Amino acid sequence: MQTSQFAVTEGDFRSLFIRDVLDGLQQPQKSLPSKYFYDSQGSQYFDQICSLNEYYPYRTELSMLPDVARDLNSILQDPWEIVEFGAGSLVKIRLLLQQLDNIEHYVPIDIAGDHLRQASDRLQQEFPQLTVLPIEADFTQPAPLPETLPLPKLGFFPGSTIGNFSPEQAQFFLSNIRQSLGDHSRLLIGVDTKKDPSVLHNAYNDSMGVTAAFNRNILNHINRICGADFDPQAFAHYAFYNPVAGRIEMHLISTLAQQVSIDDQMIAFSEGENIHTENSYKYTPDEFLALAATSGWERERIWLDKAQMFSVFLLSAR
Ligand SMILES: C[S@@+](CC[C@H](N)C(=O)[O-])C[C@H]1O[C@@H](n2cnc3c(N)ncnc32)[C@H](O)[C@@H]1O
Repeated sequence: MQTSQFAVTEGDFRSLFIRDVLDGLQQPQKSLPSKYFYDSQGSQYFDQICSLNEYYPYRTELSMLPDVARDLNSILQDPWEIVEFGAGSLVKIRLLLQQLDNIEHYVPIDIAGDHLRQASDRLQQEFPQLTVLPIEADFTQPAPLPETLPLPKLGFFPGSTIGNFSPEQAQFFLSNIRQSLGDHSRLLIGVDTKKDPSVLHNAYNDSMGVTAAFNRNILNHINRICGADFDPQAFAHYAFYNPVAGRIEMHLISTLAQQVSIDDQMIAFSEGENIHTENSYKYTPDEFLALAATSGWERERIWLDKAQMFSVFLLSAR
C-alpha cells in the first residue's frame, strides 16, 4: 500500500475544529458539525450501531450490494478506479471488489484517519492485486485526488451519508465531486428512503443506548482536540423524525444550567437547551433523482430492496 496522504496538517485540523465548534455554539440555536462524531471511538460506535437490530439502513444496503455488484460488473468493462467518500471500516467495498473484475485502484477517503489506515492495511492484504490509496481528509473541502493512471472513476458513497447534508449542501457536494471525478465518471450512491416514522424513530433511538453514546462522543472528541471540559453525561440524547423537513434530527440536551470552557472561551447552557448535532435526510427515489440532476448526474440504474427501505443509484456524469 502506498503512503497515506493528508489534505490538512494536525495543526490546521485543530484550528478548523475549534473554529467550527465555537461558530456553532455561539449561534442562538447551538449546533455542531456531524463530521466531528468520527474519531476512532466514534467510528467504533458507528460500527456497533450497524450491528443493531433497529438500524435497518446498514444491513439493508449490505444485503443489496452483491446484486448491485453483479449488475455493475457487466456495465464496467474497462479498468476503473473507485473513489469512496466516508469509507469508514471498508466493509461495503469488499462486496463490490469480490464481483468487479476491472478495478485497479481504490481510493478511500475519510476524516477518521487512524481508523481508515488500519482498515486500509487489512483490505490491501486481502486484495494484493489492488492498489489501495487511503486519504485522510474532509470530503467537504477541496482536495486533489492522487495522481494515478488516467482511469475513469467510479465514486462510491454508501451509508446514506448524503443525508447528513441539507438538500442545498448535498447539491453543492454532488456538483463538486462531479467536477473532481471527471467527465466519464459514474457515482454509486446509497440513499435512505422515506418510510413509517416509527421505523425511522427506532433506528436512531436504539434500546442498547449505542446511538446515545455515539451522539455524546462528539463532546469527548471536542474535549480531546479543543481542550474543552464538557461533561458528556450532563447532556441527554434526543432524536426524532421531522416529517415536514423529511429528516431525522439528533440533538444533545443540557440536563442542567452549566458553563463549558472551550479553548479559553466560556459557553453557557441553560437547563433544557439543545445542541443540534446531526440531520439525516430521507428521500423518495424521485426526489433524489431530481437533486442529482441539478448537480450534473443522470440516472443509469436504481436498485430498491423489496420493502423499499433503502435505495442504491448508479448515476453517470452528464
Ligand atoms: C454514516 S458513516 C458511513 C460509513 C460507511 N461508508 C458505511 O456505509 O457503512 C459516515 C462515514 O463518513 C465519514 N465522514 C463523515 N463526515 C466526513 C467528512 N466531512 N469528510 C470525510 N469523511 C467523513 C465518517 O468518518 C464515517 O466513516
